[in-house]
Amino acid sequence: MPDDRMQQMSAEFQKMVDEFFNIQSRYSAAIREIQTKLEILDDEFQLRHKRNPIHHIETRMKSIQSMMEKLRRKNHPVNMDSAVENLSDIAGIRVICSYVQDVYTVARLLTSQDDIHLIRMRDYIREPKENGYRSLHLIVEIPVFLSEGRINVPVEIQIRTIAMDFWASLEHSMRYKAQGNVPNEICDELQQVGEDIAALDKRMQSIHDRIEAIAAQQNRA
Ligand code: GTP
Ligand code: MG
Repeated sequence: MPDDRMQQMSAEFQKMVDEFFNIQSRYSAAIREIQTKLEILDDEFQLRHKRNPIHHIETRMKSIQSMMEKLRRKNHPVNMDSAVENLSDIAGIRVICSYVQDVYTVARLLTSQDDIHLIRMRDYIREPKENGYRSLHLIVEIPVFLSEGRINVPVEIQIRTIAMDFWASLEHSMRYKAQGNVPNEICDELQQVGEDIAALDKRMQSIHDRIEAIAAQQNRA
């Protein structure tokens, strides 16, 4: 390859890396803001109800490699402007809750805050994916204030129970191990396990509700 072409490519690559760090800092600011909001909600819930609806929170920034891979897969131009334009999951937050009702409570309390703008909600709990995947997915926009002013940054939030998370993380690693070639009977079994998990979540919610009712009765007495 001629030297000038090499230099041009390396300049383009350097530009992309610089842009990536610039963009990454905005998305990571958005993640921190939402994480703080979730922690405040969880603390307040603890004071009021003597328990935490959020079991734990995980956050991640999409790597430059997986952004580029996803843009290629979806036939979008492969550069940072296109990533900002076309990918809504550059910043990701996963909220793991104790009970199914907590999932909806957390989603409601977060999206009712007036600096949060709900872009999209997909309820894979009421309507699980065909493979048995369950979760509540939100895309929200949150303002981040930089020296040049305010920008709105999208963040993907996945909210699910401990049991749904158990299913999703194991299914993900099994699919990765099998490199996508999972035999039909195993897919069916995983889907069935998803149903079993949903039934367990329902029972745990009911046990929890009955215990809360007993505690409330004792407090009144
Ligand atoms: P992409 O799938 O990322 O292109 O986005 P989308 O707009 O189709 O959103 P979707 O709601 O399908 O999924 C977004 C994210 O949810 C994924 O990146 C995963 O983290 C998670 N997810 C979705 N489906 C599954 C699934 O079948 N199994 C597991 N383990 N995770 C899933
Ligand atoms: Mg998808």
